[in-house]
Amino acid sequence: MSAHIGVTGLAVMGANLARNFARNGYTVALHNRSAAKTDTLLENYGDEGDFIRTETLAELVEALEKPRRVLIMVKAGGPVDSVIDQLVPLLDEGDIVIDAGNSHYEDTRRREAALAEKGLHFVGIGVSGGEEGALLGPSIMPGGSRESYDSLGPMLEKIAAKYDGDPCCRWVGTDGAGHFVKMVHNGIEYADMQVIGEASDLLRSAAGLEPAQQAEVFTEWNKGPLSSFLIEITAEVLAHQDAKTGKPFIDVVVDSAGQKGTGRWTVVSALELGSPVSGIAESVFARGLSSQRDQRELAQDILAGHEDRIQVPEGFVDDVRQALFASKLVSYAQGIDMLTAAATEYGWDLKLDEIASLWRAGCIIRAELLDDIMKAYADEDKPANLLFAPAFAAAIADAVPAWRRVVATAVQLGIPVPVFSSSLAYYDGLRRKRLPAALTQGLRDLFGAHTYRRIDTEGTFHTLWSGDKSEVSAVDTH
Ligand code: 6PG
Repeated sequence: MSAHIGVTGLAVMGANLARNFARNGYTVALHNRSAAKTDTLLENYGDEGDFIRTETLAELVEALEKPRRVLIMVKAGGPVDSVIDQLVPLLDEGDIVIDAGNSHYEDTRRREAALAEKGLHFVGIGVSGGEEGALLGPSIMPGGSRESYDSLGPMLEKIAAKYDGDPCCRWVGTDGAGHFVKMVHNGIEYADMQVIGEASDLLRSAAGLEPAQQAEVFTEWNKGPLSSFLIEITAEVLAHQDAKTGKPFIDVVVDSAGQKGTGRWTVVSALELGSPVSGIAESVFARGLSSQRDQRELAQDILAGHEDRIQVPEGFVDDVRQALFASKLVSYAQGIDMLTAAATEYGWDLKLDEIASLWRAGCIIRAELLDDIMKAYADEDKPANLLFAPAFAAAIADAVPAWRRVVATAVQLGIPVPVFSSSLAYYDGLRRKRLPAALTQGLRDLFGAHTYRRIDTEGTFHTLWSGDKSEVSAVDTH
């Protein structure tokens, strides 16, 4: 019996993906650097389906039907390269190597090109949904060649989460497109979590709601347009009591947020693409600030607040809900804008409606909203920005008054709301007829002769600032 797929790297994510394939009727060859993990998996779950135990990569390759499909689930970076280097000499033309980890898309592009030269397919797939998703149905974002998807796609679609019966797995584009889309998913995930944090901080510090009371608020919010996995689990975490102290769980957790790097990658990439993902960036910076515990400690005695002792406006809790919704929409809009920029830069034919459809179930950012986002981009007339889609333009307009009240209140009370406020600034920046960038251009022209364009005449110009201040035509350096 040959295996349909081989999985190497049997830590929780790899093991759960392997089990998911087996539970769906595929024969799975298993390999791990130390065979102990393979044996544990077989002992505990060997009866879930057909597994083939192997001890070396050569045995793993030997166990597979052709074209072979080998899925690697090891730590991103060097470990992936090391497994690829060992695998490649064992494979034949047409075989498919799959990297299901959170790899950087540039690494995936490089690996895909290198393996393509050897006649091998390299497929970077974004997998979202955590451990449980990997086992029960993740959202899957595959890149690589279209041809490889013909052989691999049906298997991935079978193990993926389903939304109304539709698999949350579709080929998204060539080479690193899958990992890029997963990276942007994670950028949005960061912003989603940060806006939830800002809402929770306001509910407590401004509206006086204790975590258990907030849990009820979030449970209620989860029944409306905010309905999503992250809002649902927020209620669960807020309601949880620490067994040791009896305090709310969140009060005994150190308030420094960790990060493995995908949020940071999103922002670095957005900076390179010139895509203004301000909300996502602020959410990464917020984690950074939270981790500067020494400085935060010192600031307690050094930095004055001068907060205004204001009454929170009536209906504040619902205002926060609306601010949360609007800011969340902005981060989706920013993430999607970045996908659009990347499609041009890397030559990917990213279908935004299909990408939104993949995120409707299985992944961490799954939300009711994503079905509407999918519909907005399925339209013949695709919006240039998500916020311009009629349904979203109307929804955000409804939320604006509450959003402004919340940001103003937070500022007066000295409660930091970096994503609420930067998202509002993005919204207002988009709407603003004239931006102060004209002054920036004037300054750049004065100190560096960087030139500017005029609103009334084609061409590029420079003012002779240190001469008679007359204007001359110039070579474009703006
Ligand atoms: C997912 C998650 C998952 C993980 C990331 C983010 O989609 O299943 O995004 O990939 O949570 O590693 O982790 P950090 O918050 O540590 O960056």
